[in-house]
Amino acid sequence: MVQITELGYVALGVKNLAEWTAFASSIIGLEAFDEGEPGRAYLRMDYWRHRIILDEDGSDDLNVLGFRVAGVEEFRAMARRLTDAGVAVRIGSPAEADARRVLEIMMLNDASGYPIEIFHGPQVQADRPFHPGRRMHGRFRTGDGGMGHLIQHQTVGLDRTYEFYKLLGMRGGVEYRIPIPGAPGPAELLFMHCNERDHTVAFGAPGKKRINHLMLEVENFDDVGLTYEIVQRAGLAMAMTPGRHANDHMYSFYFMNPSGWMIEIGWGARAATHQSEYYQRDTYGHAPVPGVMKGVMEI
Ligand SMILES: [Fe+2]
Repeated sequence: MVQITELGYVALGVKNLAEWTAFASSIIGLEAFDEGEPGRAYLRMDYWRHRIILDEDGSDDLNVLGFRVAGVEEFRAMARRLTDAGVAVRIGSPAEADARRVLEIMMLNDASGYPIEIFHGPQVQADRPFHPGRRMHGRFRTGDGGMGHLIQHQTVGLDRTYEFYKLLGMRGGVEYRIPIPGAPGPAELLFMHCNERDHTVAFGAPGKKRINHLMLEVENFDDVGLTYEIVQRAGLAMAMTPGRHANDHMYSFYFMNPSGWMIEIGWGARAATHQSEYYQRDTYGHAPVPGVMKGVMEI
């Protein structure tokens, strides 16, 4: 069955492009560059031409998820499957594909109406090794697992959200059922995967923004510690203390970015298990920092 193979890129809307590029390079360690396009900058984390597109549109939110399929046949099969399922798909023009530096692109919305792009053939710059924005012990872990994972908002319920992402060839289910004192039932979080990464997209967090957090994984444990120290020294708001997730086994911590949502820097995740199980809490840590998490979410 044709399926999404990875989260290839994301497009973020930001209020202050200069602040965001400085944050991305000096705090996270991403490589920032621009091509002279007004209000736009790019972030690299490996050999891909870019992994993050920053647009200064004032939204301070996720604009587009870019999902990859393997090649031209999978691209056609995915367009057919989505169309047959009643999803409105628009095949992008060659100029639109070129703007994203991919061979072909289609545009659609997910079940909640959030924009998605599906593409094949990203431009890989083999002659341009990743150059981190500040010192790093190792590199970002991308490869077959894609650029990372995120939790995003949904407006149609977890069941319809699951059915939509299943159409994209993703697998998954509820992995957390968190008891909430005084509530009639637990808070449920839905996790979907499409490759070796435990989850690529997840749902169920409260919050008004489309994106709750973006997780970028590092290959060297010391880059988690280094980033933690850099965030502290910069006086940025920590959102969750270091800890290990029960589902993907990621050792990580969370901090706020200039757009008011969270970045998670993690290390040591296990591969997707392909069998469902659920948890009521994390292995340890990940305590929300009081006052910072208002309107974001707590896990
Ligand atoms: Fe995460």
